[in-house]
Amino acid sequence: MCTILAIETSCDDTSCAILQSGRILSNVISSQEIHKKYGGVVPELASRAHQNYINDVVHKALSYSDVKITDIDAVAYTQGPGLLGSLIVGSSFAKGLALSLNKPIITVNHLDAHIFSHFIEEPFPAFPFLCLLVSGGHTENVLINSFTEYKVIGKTKDDAAGEAFDKAAKMLGLSYPGGPLIDKFAKNGNENAIEFNMPKPDEFNYSFSGLKTQLLYFLQKHLKENNSFIEENLADICASYQFTIINYLIKNLFKAAKEYKVKNIGIAGGVAANSLLREMISEKSNKLGMNYYIPKFEYCTDNAAMIAKVAEIKYLNKEFSNFSEVPYSRNKVY
Ligand code: KG4
Ligand code: ZN
Repeated sequence: MCTILAIETSCDDTSCAILQSGRILSNVISSQEIHKKYGGVVPELASRAHQNYINDVVHKALSYSDVKITDIDAVAYTQGPGLLGSLIVGSSFAKGLALSLNKPIITVNHLDAHIFSHFIEEPFPAFPFLCLLVSGGHTENVLINSFTEYKVIGKTKDDAAGEAFDKAAKMLGLSYPGGPLIDKFAKNGNENAIEFNMPKPDEFNYSFSGLKTQLLYFLQKHLKENNSFIEENLADICASYQFTIINYLIKNLFKAAKEYKVKNIGIAGGVAANSLLREMISEKSNKLGMNYYIPKFEYCTDNAAMIAKVAEIKYLNKEFSNFSEVPYSRNKVY
């Protein structure tokens, strides 16, 4: 039994969660609105906003959980990857808190946390488990054999899937983050209206940068003839573009599952909130008699509950970190 206070500040969400004996008691997330008008996260503004929000978010997480600060056994924080300035706000706050409470500190890798968000609430996947991690910064197929043994078997060579959504949204005049908006407009569109081409997945890797260029040229061509082209065709553009990305991800994921003979598959990360991805993984898994797992919506996008989950595994293994450890912006190599 342990009680953990976890902090996540890797990008533009300030979050704090309290976990006790395996259960998440609170998971407070404050999303930064300031980036909307810039069409993407502005790192300097993100760190400043984390500084403004973090105190309040931590207080709320404690008060919603009904846990006293003195009952905390360890403080955890996201060490990386992410925006360095943002990570420093969370790590400094976590270290200060742990020191003042005289409790250990636990560092958590953000990508590990997305993957193990599958173990926050039942049903838990059985191992071996193949997880497609799709977020704003990462797109990876990860083969997981246990909590400590896992490897990336394929990843994007350029943009992440979330970036492909966000950059397209910017071209379409939509605000940041673009993924949820494209998902919303796509619901009223025809996914076969426009044909976009994707490169053949090389092994289990991905590439998204060509798609964004195709969309740019497509829009430029049509806007020359009709400057209301986007407004008049927004739903079809979103539906076709989204379908291209999701179909590509699904094909590659199931190809990897076949190759590695894995029956349990799942999705994690912000793009796992996408309604078409959720629909397609369930349809295809049912057809092939495979088990699929999708974390609850609030555990897909950035949140501290997933940090707390990994921290609990580390706490039980007595894997504490040193106070001299510092955040890193790029990921460790698996
Ligand atoms: O995991 P996350 O919250 O942050 C990172 O670690 O990057 O993922 C954010 C990404 C953004 O690119 C956002 O556009 C995308 O997740 N996203 C979606 C949806 N909801 C969030 N993409 C497609 N459809 C959605 N419904
Ligand atoms: Zn993330």
